[in-house]
Amino acid sequence: MPQTLEKTTKKLRQFNKVCEILDRYERNPAKLIPILQLVQDEYRYLPEEVLTYIATSLSLPPAKVYGVATFYAHFALEPKGKYVIRLCDGTACHVKKSIPILEALRERLGLTDKVRTTPDMLFTVETVSCLGACGLAPVMVINDDVHGQMTPEHAVALIDEIAAKEGKK
Ligand code: FES
Repeated sequence: MPQTLEKTTKKLRQFNKVCEILDRYERNPAKLIPILQLVQDEYRYLPEEVLTYIATSLSLPPAKVYGVATFYAHFALEPKGKYVIRLCDGTACHVKKSIPILEALRERLGLTDKVRTTPDMLFTVETVSCLGACGLAPVMVINDDVHGQMTPEHAVALIDEIAAKEGKK
């Protein structure tokens, strides 16, 4: 069936890239963290079957690889949207009212604290504790772009701008 074939080909391609990354580190189990980092850079998250594959390739127990991937907040086990919005809720940002910004973003995108990615995979909204730019509080980061002195209105306007650019409303 063409659809199954397409899926299989896609999966094979996925593992090709993982193989390249593993080879770059000579399949050294001591390099697990940089390997996971590069794999995540490639796919924006760590798919379950890829983690199992990495474990087998490095002769590590899968539980160990999962353990590392879940221990570091930086690693994502779920797919994320094209635009990852990180809203700081560290002390400085919290005091300067980061929560109303979070609520405005979630309301605009139909997200909750459990559902963090829009169904079209365009946006993911997360909170983080201190982005190290407290002087700009409240701070929001969209992918790698830092936006300081944020307000709920400005945050929603930025989202609307991206959505328009992406041809969505
Ligand atoms: S508390 Fe938000 S950047 Fe430090």
